Amino acid sequence: MLYIDNVNQFYKQSHTLKDVTLECKEGKCTCLMGRNGVGKTTLSKAVMGLLPIKSGRIVYNGTDIAPLGAHIRAQMAIGYVPQGREIFSSLTVRENLEIGVLSNRNKIKKPPSKIYELFPVLKDMQNRKGGDLSGGQQQQLAIARALCIDPKMLILDEPGEGIQPNIVSHIGEVIDMLTKEEKIGVLLIEQKLPFARKHGDDFYILDRGSIVANGAVSDLDNDTIKRYLSV
Ligand SMILES: Nc1ncnc2c1ncn2[C@@H]1O[C@H](COP(=O)(O)OP(=O)(O)O)[C@@H](O)[C@H]1O
Ligand SMILES: [Mg+2]
Repeated sequence: MLYIDNVNQFYKQSHTLKDVTLECKEGKCTCLMGRNGVGKTTLSKAVMGLLPIKSGRIVYNGTDIAPLGAHIRAQMAIGYVPQGREIFSSLTVRENLEIGVLSNRNKIKKPPSKIYELFPVLKDMQNRKGGDLSGGQQQQLAIARALCIDPKMLILDEPGEGIQPNIVSHIGEVIDMLTKEEKIGVLLIEQKLPFARKHGDDFYILDRGSIVANGAVSDLDNDTIKRYLSV
């Protein structure tokens, strides 16, 4: 579904992604793990076309999307929930969702009703300003906004960061539903091992810009964890 092939990226002289190769499969949750500052967000932005890469390919269903404009991702049904959520705080919940709807390739007119089933709190808060929501509610809004494009692939950058535990576990249930029932491919950037263990299928560990380990989440061993992840 998504094949990141030998990607190199630089911030000026700083070589941030080094020959990164990673595959995400349909209906699976692939976890990209690693400590702070190793390049996880940089990789997600490169996939989303928000940062140029120096070399390599980002192949989505057979097409190299690396040279294509960022807007192509929504057209191709790739949804994105950035780190820190990036919702519009001065717009209402409904308006934030309508921005997602605008990028929907099927030209739908309003948010799909399923997002209110997944996140009932958003229905109650439709007219509230994004900035008035709690961190957890904002994260639910950011995920719902990404679902408004009706994605077949969804990239989530640390969705549980700084959020109360009951909402984190709700987000986990939503990820399970998306992968198992809707067969969406999820690329989950995650530092917390228990969450990755619970919801992930495959893992990749990034360390200073290089993939240093990968495999099935069930095979993640203690040595690897101690060496590359902060636990
Ligand atoms: N816009 C930027 N310009 C220059 N360096 C950056 C920029 N964004 C991130 N970096 C640097 O690139 C490295 C990887 O950052 P990032 O991808 O955010 O890591 P992670 O998401 O794994 O915490 C870090 O050393 C960070 O300081
Ligand atoms: Mg990050």
